[in-house]
Amino acid sequence: MTLAHSREELVASLGAPGERGRVALVPTMGALHEGHASLVREARRRVGPEGRVVVSVFVNPLQFAPGEDLDRYPRTLDADLEVCAGEGVDVVFAPTAEEVYPGGVEAGRTDEQVTVDPGPLAAELEGVTRPTHFRGVLTVVAKLFGLVRPDLAVFGQKDYQQLVLITQMATNLCLGVEVVGAETVREADGLALSSRNRYLDPEQRFRAAALHRVLVAAREAAHWGPDVALEAARAELRQAHGVDLDYLELRLPDLRPLPAGPVPESTEARILVAARVGTTRLIDNMPLTLGARREPRATEGDL
Ligand code: PAF
Repeated sequence: MTLAHSREELVASLGAPGERGRVALVPTMGALHEGHASLVREARRRVGPEGRVVVSVFVNPLQFAPGEDLDRYPRTLDADLEVCAGEGVDVVFAPTAEEVYPGGVEAGRTDEQVTVDPGPLAAELEGVTRPTHFRGVLTVVAKLFGLVRPDLAVFGQKDYQQLVLITQMATNLCLGVEVVGAETVREADGLALSSRNRYLDPEQRFRAAALHRVLVAAREAAHWGPDVALEAARAELRQAHGVDLDYLELRLPDLRPLPAGPVPESTEARILVAARVGTTRLIDNMPLTLGARREPRATEGDL
């Protein structure tokens, strides 16, 4: 495994585009955990033993707004290198800020650069409280695609809106990179693995598992239709203490709103939740299949 900090070092260890096998990129901001390790395994599965797996480690200032956790975001390169070596990664690309933003960069200052316009979806869900976030994410991912020139890139489904927007960017801008979404890895109590979980104290960590219960409640009630699924999720939320809801939404898999009125039987959908536990903001989501039945579950025994 080699560690590259610049485009030149990257090309030296990977070979120039056209002179190398298939390359899979796993973009990360470091603080690697089992969730990232599973993305690396998915990348390896897709390119095979002959292909090359590159993990990028870069805490991207542009996707943090001023006042967000850019300064306290964990930076653990030595431990990250161990995780990557253990997973058989070929190259870790940990560029300097100068390499990625030659003109300099400040948190959230998207007005001083050429950036990627993420389109209207970026103003919804996460974008309501983080209006510049996805412009920062898409810009750095486009730069990483340009630097690494991968055939495919693997992202976690945990950041589902990010995955949808990156997929749209790759398609709409004809980037020639296949975007792969890998399943969320969870703790035993269902909490989705996230680098931000390490901010939680033990009591908050215990409370944070409620997010997963909320999603499961929706999934289990989904055959009754969207209204009942959402109400089941809200009922579970009312049981949760110390969980401060930001949003709970049911959308189509591409994150368009559900059509008004009854949905056709077996409509695929996604439930998404964001909440604060203490000062830590957590997000999660789950696929579900909606049924067309409209009777509330409480009446089931009375029928
Ligand atoms: O999901 C992340 O870790 C980041 O948003 C990404 C995709 C590496 C871009 O900085």
